[in-house]
Amino acid sequence: MQNYLERIEAYLRGCFTDDQPQQVLFNSMRYSLLAGGKRLRPIFVLAFCDLCGGDTEAALPFGAAMEMVHTYSLIHDDLPCMDNDDYRRGKPTNHRVYGEATACLAGDALLTAAFGQLACAKLPSERIVQAVRVLSLCAGELGMVGGQILDMDAENRLCTAQEVYDIQSRKTGALISAACQLGVIAAGGSNAQQNAAAEYAEHLGLAFQIRDDILDVIGDRDKLGKATGVDENKNTFVRLYGVEKCGTMVAEETRRAIDALTCFDHPDFLIDTANRLISREN
Ligand code: IPE
Ligand code: IPE
Ligand code: MG
Ligand code: MG
Ligand code: MG
Repeated sequence: MQNYLERIEAYLRGCFTDDQPQQVLFNSMRYSLLAGGKRLRPIFVLAFCDLCGGDTEAALPFGAAMEMVHTYSLIHDDLPCMDNDDYRRGKPTNHRVYGEATACLAGDALLTAAFGQLACAKLPSERIVQAVRVLSLCAGELGMVGGQILDMDAENRLCTAQEVYDIQSRKTGALISAACQLGVIAAGGSNAQQNAAAEYAEHLGLAFQIRDDILDVIGDRDKLGKATGVDENKNTFVRLYGVEKCGTMVAEETRRAIDALTCFDHPDFLIDTANRLISREN
């Protein structure tokens, strides 16, 4: 974990440093990108790449792309027109520091730069094309953005469990799925390995978002680095079933995620990571 994290942080620190007239945009992008965060998505890229016998150094741009798309999604998620949050990754949100227009543009630029990262990876071009296909599918209107609009539209009405599942698997699960699949793709893994990675991500993504919703109720703002108690009008499993039952659901989905790893030889790191996320506090 430490080795992955250090390499990811070092790579991200090297992005967007040029002295350009639009430096304020670079500053705003770096403000959120380098604000910390668990780096879970790039860790999944490197871990699945390792698991499939790939070169994790060559996969770093895929990891950075995942973190850029994720960071853009957080900047836009926090905007006043969306969740209207003031605090993220332990700091004031991007728009609180740079203003709404710059925050919108920083998100736009991070999303665009992510695809530039994929294109510039030193990997066979068919793997890059496959990565572009998967990331655009998972990040766009059928994936994360699609989930965000369903989440927004469902505010102030009560959803069914199936609707909540659909919202969460898109808004959160889809990017985690992209990350796991990109690791396999970077390594040139098989279709069966890519499907197993997607299945792990589907269950882990659900567990992850349910834990996020539990932490909104029982979490500590300082540990989380974001406000708590802000999801009262949101459609979450916590609202449907309460915190206790949701704790059981997190454990159950994590077990299913781990079950998806049987086709890999030494999945210990991904098993440990999934288990550690069950009781995460940030
Ligand atoms: C927060 O994601 C948004 C959700 C999808 C729940 P993370 O919990 O991975 O946020 P960071 O990257 O660690 O800040
Ligand atoms: C986040 O869902 C999903 C995204 C695509 C960013 P939330 O709105 O619950 O995430 P937090 O709690 O603000 O991190
Ligand atoms: Mg939101
Ligand atoms: Mg939010
Ligand atoms: Mg949340």
